[in-house]
Amino acid sequence: FQPKLLAGRKLLITAGPTFEPIDPVRGITNLSSGKMGFAIARAAREAGAEVTLVAGPVHLATPRGVTRIDVQSAQQMFDAVLPLAPAQDLFVATAAVADWRPAQSSAQKIKKDGSGSAPSIAMCENPDILASVAALPAPPFCVGFAAESENLAAHARAKRLRKKVPLLVGNVGPATFGQDHNALLLVDAEGEREIPHNDKQSLARELIADIARRLNAKQ
Ligand code: C5P
Repeated sequence: FQPKLLAGRKLLITAGPTFEPIDPVRGITNLSSGKMGFAIARAAREAGAEVTLVAGPVHLATPRGVTRIDVQSAQQMFDAVLPLAPAQDLFVATAAVADWRPAQSSAQKIKKDGSGSAPSIAMCENPDILASVAALPAPPFCVGFAAESENLAAHARAKRLRKKVPLLVGNVGPATFGQDHNALLLVDAEGEREIPHNDKQSLARELIADIARRLNAKQ
């Protein structure tokens, strides 16, 4: 009998885009589908973990046995994650969180005034969920993600140090958002290794096996 890799472990994961409202009918979002995060949630559950998935607006079914919390904005994602984080063994941040949001969201739909002028939207920075969890006094093992359009390895290395997380996973892409296949670049303090091109569920299983080894080696 082989005990499951993450039996008795608690894993919290963010997935999907965020939606930052401009007014009641408009907002700023991105092309993240949530597929990679949902695949990791499913793989972690299969590996025996107790999984909580905090999801931005996506069109995906909840993996069996996973507790799901739906949110819209980065601030709502932050508010859902931070109270749960201290009790977790693992935190995996796959969400494509908006870096900025409109500083003010209008209560009424913004109307054209007929003058031909366009409104300007002042933006402010969103809280960094991953960096905030990593800065907790006794943080869970934190895994960050990076989607870059160039220089993936260098950006992933820099991001790992900036967010102060042990493991940063780069989407090798190109244009991984919404796709069913990808390859992953795992960057840690020792160096890098690639999980070669495969469907996202297979990648998720390999990544979970890798993370479980790191976690079990720590104890
Ligand atoms: O800084 P950047 O957005 O490139 O970093 C990506 C990583 O940080 C991802 O793991 C993402 O989920 C996480 N992140 C976050 N909160 C933010 C911005 C990014 O958790 N506000």
